Amino acid sequence: MYQLCPSILSADFNRLGEQIKILENEGVKWLHIDVMDGDFVPSISFGMPVIKSIRKESGMFFDVHLMVTEPGRYIQDFVDCGADSITVHAEACEDLERTIELIHDAGVKAGISIKPATPVNDISHMLEDVDMVLVMTVQPGFGGQKYIDECTEKIQELRELIDHEGLDVDIQVDGGINEDTLVTVMKAGANLFVAGSWVFKDDIAKNVRNIQNKIHE
Ligand code: DX5
Ligand code: ZN
Repeated sequence: MYQLCPSILSADFNRLGEQIKILENEGVKWLHIDVMDGDFVPSISFGMPVIKSIRKESGMFFDVHLMVTEPGRYIQDFVDCGADSITVHAEACEDLERTIELIHDAGVKAGISIKPATPVNDISHMLEDVDMVLVMTVQPGFGGQKYIDECTEKIQELRELIDHEGLDVDIQVDGGINEDTLVTVMKAGANLFVAGSWVFKDDIAKNVRNIQNKIHE
């Protein structure tokens, strides 16, 4: 199943509700929500109150990407404010197995994310335990960066492992996704595509239509 997952990090926060409505009207099912703590990554984005507030108006699947040190401390909070899936960074957790368990115990889907320099090998033993692996294709922390080419091989490696083991695990990519890199990551085996600046720059509805066409071609 292919999905476009617009990242609201690139939205105009003064018009957030309105812009999410546009996505919904265009048939977008997933919303990618980037939470940054100023510790795991240098930047700070937003947290629970924003998610709680958009949850009231939106029926989309809330895909929460936690760029947070020791995210296990906040799992229940994010579920309470409306997350449908929570992705944590392998590099941010002292006990990754336990953190994934906490997410599933809270009743939502669980993902593991790896930074560009983290090898697939570091998390390959956990593929059976997760619903999704998020391969970061830029350094986490900011929207609008350039896709790191070396990450393509990691997507391929992961796809081979998942298929070889006959698992039902999604591969999400995040960072620098545009017209050109979308083709690259699709070919490499990713099926969930996060896009921030590509979606929210200028005409959102038009961008979404253009991207959906490319995904379903
Ligand atoms: C970066 C975030 C991304 C970001 C992507 O740390 O995880 O989701 O919003 O932005 P673009 O698509 O502009 O690279
Ligand atoms: Zn993200």
